[in-house]
Amino acid sequence: LNYQVPRTRREILEILLKGLHRLEYRGYDSAGVGIDGGNGKDWESNAKSIHLIKQRGKVKALDEEINKQQDMDLDVEFDVHVGIAHTRWATHGVPSPVNSHPHRSDKTNEFIVIHNGIITNYKDLRKFLESKGYEFESETDTETIAKLVKYMFDNRESDDISFATLVERVTQQLEGAFALVFKSVHYPGEAVGTRRGSPLLMGVRSDHKLSSDHIPVLYRSTAKDKKGCSAIPRMDQDTCLFPVDQKAVEYYFASDASAVIEHTNRVIFLEDDDVAAVMEGRLSIHRIKRTAGDYPARAIQTLQMELQQIMKGNYSSFMQKEIFEQPESVVNTMRGRINFNDNTVILGGLKDHIKEIQRCRRLILIACGTSYHAGVATRQVLEELTELPVMVELASDFLDRNTPVFRDDVCFFISQSGETADSLMALRYCKERGALTVGVTNTVGSSISRETDCGVHINAGPEIGVASTKAYTSQFVALIMFALLMCDDRISMQPRRREIIQGLRVLPDLIKEVLSLDDEIQKLAEELYQQKSVLIMGRGYHYATCLEGALKIKEITYMHSEGILAGELKHGPLALVDKLMPVIMIIMRDHTYTKCQNALQQIVARQGRPIVICDKDDYETAKCSSRTIKVPHCVDCLQGVLSVIPLQLLSFHLAVLRGFDVDCPRNLAKSVTVE
Ligand code: G6P
Repeated sequence: LNYQVPRTRREILEILLKGLHRLEYRGYDSAGVGIDGGNGKDWESNAKSIHLIKQRGKVKALDEEINKQQDMDLDVEFDVHVGIAHTRWATHGVPSPVNSHPHRSDKTNEFIVIHNGIITNYKDLRKFLESKGYEFESETDTETIAKLVKYMFDNRESDDISFATLVERVTQQLEGAFALVFKSVHYPGEAVGTRRGSPLLMGVRSDHKLSSDHIPVLYRSTAKDKKGCSAIPRMDQDTCLFPVDQKAVEYYFASDASAVIEHTNRVIFLEDDDVAAVMEGRLSIHRIKRTAGDYPARAIQTLQMELQQIMKGNYSSFMQKEIFEQPESVVNTMRGRINFNDNTVILGGLKDHIKEIQRCRRLILIACGTSYHAGVATRQVLEELTELPVMVELASDFLDRNTPVFRDDVCFFISQSGETADSLMALRYCKERGALTVGVTNTVGSSISRETDCGVHINAGPEIGVASTKAYTSQFVALIMFALLMCDDRISMQPRRREIIQGLRVLPDLIKEVLSLDDEIQKLAEELYQQKSVLIMGRGYHYATCLEGALKIKEITYMHSEGILAGELKHGPLALVDKLMPVIMIIMRDHTYTKCQNALQQIVARQGRPIVICDKDDYETAKCSSRTIKVPHCVDCLQGVLSVIPLQLLSFHLAVLRGFDVDCPRNLAKSVTVE
């Protein structure tokens, strides 16, 4: 929303579309935009109609559709303008223009809304609204919200009801998860956003000093209107944010900071049930009532994120850039936290809780996708250094099982985005049962980082490619640092601690060495890319690498791939092996080496022709392999950071050779904020 910042419609659309491009990794099956419709000189009358443009496919398709619009003057200038835009990942209803957002209240677009999340009671709401004569045009859950806000408006008790009040009434009827932004012809120059369970932040851009560095939250329960009814209090100098001296300001609502960072680094993270309203250049935040633990103000934070971090630079895709960033991203994870001279580890986000964690009964690591694999990868060293039972759980299954959780459990939530719905639900489940909760996330201000009792930010920098790469290796390193911290006063553990810490010191250089195998791996991809299936086998520290490598291949190449625990080979998977089936094995010189050699022999005996990822001086393994990828040796429990990189590179090259969009694999999204 721009206020007293003259912008042409063309500029406004560019801002919206650029923002969508930055968020495209979260969903890209269709996209849409809603802007003020008029072409006159007066912004207020322009805002009396809304122009909706929606298209199936990626944001680029929407861009093309916009350029086809005949009745839109792109050069008309607005002093005040509200536009909303959305890129969709379909949950209810196929990708199509009519199912894409913004959704509208009626054919004249009185109210429009965009939504991230799922409304679970939408069928009941729809039935109710249909009984009142509202006609639906899409199959989505979101459309009920657009109709509901109009219903609230049509049935308002007085004419001066505020937009925020209407939205608040709507959210009281909604069940499920949502982040919503509304626009209406009845409230020109105003926008209202709210969230519950799905992320929403606001960016504030102004060349002028802001009235404050925080916004007090207004509670409806404490404010009364003239008739003594509880009402949302009117904004005044002390209760809202605005630029002093001058009024010129721009506000942005977004699901994450990457959409706004090129305009401003000043952001406000909204909390669940906050209703944020912008009107006449002022922002205010309302809530129905104050709940225990709710801080009655929202701070304006200054983000450290740089625009360059979310650009591809010289790489062909974000995924490739992120794979090659790993020597630096793991350094960033360790920066300021490990002293390699005296072998000490400090994790500021855990320091007040570490004693309590050391006294716990067990550790439970809970996550989804790649983040789950980071838990599998570090479980053994966590067990070794903490001497505690460690469970590693997929968030969805953990919840399905109603897993018993106790007050003396410590539950870790590993999540790149910090927003994954299943992980967030599991976090709330564990909190309710009194366990201490620890976040391991890559996103400052994310729901998981805010709702956990303490945590570690992995500081890998923004990860945009849907297939996670650098976040995995940084999560790996962060969990290792935690394990080291847990045993820092255990004399018997010191030699092992030193060995691991010195291993971490050289890790970035060893990662560089692995990355130099890129050409060799590309050649391997050329041999494999027409195959239907790839099996990846290993055990011990490398079982997680097998799972993660297979996930990468599935995600972006659409080939079938399976990560197999080599110990289970003879219990089934061996039946798949013949001279044609591509098999990749991971065999490193650690305590499972002899057992892995056995597995290798069993494969070779069935005419299998395994490609082996092994230590660079392992000539014995090389003799039995049809091809080897030789990686440098490091401490056993860190070797998984090195063994996964050839598989990241392989999946990348396979996807390119098969002609797929590496960063936007079909049907997937980076941040899955729905259950
Ligand atoms: C999605 C992404 C994966 C990611 C998983 C967990 O499936 O496509 O790359 O590993 O979610 O996400 P999180 O943000 O919680 O790590």
